Amino acid sequence: MKEELSLKVNAKEYRVNVDPETPLLYVLRNELELNGPKYGCGLEQCGACMVLMDGKADPSCKIPVADVVGMEITTLEGLTSENGDLHPLQEAFVAEQAAQCGFCLNGMLISGAWLLNENPNPDRAAINEKLKRVLCRCGTHTRIIRAIQAAAIAK
Ligand code: FES
Ligand code: FES
Repeated sequence: MKEELSLKVNAKEYRVNVDPETPLLYVLRNELELNGPKYGCGLEQCGACMVLMDGKADPSCKIPVADVVGMEITTLEGLTSENGDLHPLQEAFVAEQAAQCGFCLNGMLISGAWLLNENPNPDRAAINEKLKRVLCRCGTHTRIIRAIQAAAIAK
């Protein structure tokens, strides 16, 4: 049964009328038209749907929307500043040409943002640790890691 819930997403307050068991990803994409997070496996195994929940990157494809009421949610759209400036990570991914098909990029950028917030100067092991829940089937890991290292220096 539907209920009205308040959500804080990308520093804005939203009210949505949904079944509280609906996965957060569906609410973000279908109700709020935030399409940065992608649907991949739907099983919390590929990382395509990552968002920041109170600053930590986690998959949004299974967590019921009711569980994130009161949390600060940040999607890929929220990494860009209000005046439209790209996040240093987004700049670095473009500069390093870190994308191929691009399907993993939401998860890589969200996990990278989490990493740099916690550790502004990560070594390769720290980068690997934070990215390990995001699958890249195109094998662009080397360029993705280089982009994150470049963003850390630029920050
Ligand atoms: S779609 Fe959520 S982890 Fe794969
Ligand atoms: S660039 Fe295609 S899955 Fe990573």
